[in-house]
Amino acid sequence: MNADTATSMTGKTVLITGATGGIGRAAAVALSSMGARVGITGRDRARAEYAAATIARESGNSAVDVFVADMSSQAEVRRLASEVLAAYPRLDVLLNNVGGFWAHRHATADGLEHTFALNHLAPFLLTSLLLERLKTSAPARVVTVSSGAQSMGSIDFDDLMGDRKYSGQRAYNQSKLANVMFTYELAKRLEGTGVTATVLHPGITSTDFGREDQARGWGPLIGVMRRFMKSPDQGAETSVYLASSLGAEGLTGKYFANRTPKKTHRASYDAAITARLWQVSAELVGLPITLH
Ligand SMILES: NC(=O)c1ccc[n+]([C@@H]2O[C@H](COP(=O)([O-])OP(=O)(O)OC[C@H]3O[C@@H](n4cnc5c(N)ncnc54)[C@H](OP(=O)(O)O)[C@@H]3O)[C@@H](O)[C@H]2O)c1
Repeated sequence: MNADTATSMTGKTVLITGATGGIGRAAAVALSSMGARVGITGRDRARAEYAAATIARESGNSAVDVFVADMSSQAEVRRLASEVLAAYPRLDVLLNNVGGFWAHRHATADGLEHTFALNHLAPFLLTSLLLERLKTSAPARVVTVSSGAQSMGSIDFDDLMGDRKYSGQRAYNQSKLANVMFTYELAKRLEGTGVTATVLHPGITSTDFGREDQARGWGPLIGVMRRFMKSPDQGAETSVYLASSLGAEGLTGKYFANRTPKKTHRASYDAAITARLWQVSAELVGLPITLH
């Protein structure tokens, strides 16, 4: 562990979505090892309880809490938020890690396209519902896991849900660009509150990513590529850095890869597009539209 990540997180509370495996679980072990109380989320109670037990064992910190919710459903995100608010009188870090890739179009319980709903609308809604708690806990941090795929994305306002045309890659790229735009707009809205918002690319990491609904040829390809990928611990490094390090204190409205600020898709710097995405997202999750 280097000096930046050796920060003490004792007394801090961190919520990490999608932390039963992969990058989220590795981030949970790291932040728990620094002394944080860590809440993890997953869809399945048994899997989440097992993950919590192994995180506690590996970190030597028993303060690991389990929250169960299928975050593709807005009702479940709302229930999750109310359980988190009841459990945590303060919240220092929200790590929006949940996300994935689906080769085929799936509809959620709300009738929305699954990739957009889980990768973008779930963190948008959860963050909005937890924002007052983050503000009263300031200095606090919202860290969102995007992907280098954001650079190939575009926000298709005429077909956000891929009703007319769906490709898993296109939906993924769009959702990951949405993570970046969400963060930039959030950072503006949070100016002066002591709550920061950053977004990151973890690097290509060997996890269960894309396993649920694989694109044709994906399995053998990934099998060959795995040995060149980052380990989950390595993939979690930038998340952990942004969530905990003193060096990242006060950083806001920026995108990182390998703990270094990087430029993002040109459209992400277009204030009219980010504001429009915010407005459409608020409508889709039934939140009041507040103009900035
Ligand atoms: N791996 C990479 O190379 C890579 C590259 C760039 C960006 N990323 C991003 O990194 C993040 C983490 O990915 P990963 O590679 O660690 O993926 P992963 O191994 O597939 O882990 C995904 C996590 O999300 C949870 N999850 C999935 N669907 C869910 C749902 N509907 N509701 C609640 N939880 C759900 C899973 O928990 P359960 O299955 O237990 O519910 C699991 O804990 C994602 O945002 C991904 O886009 C990954």
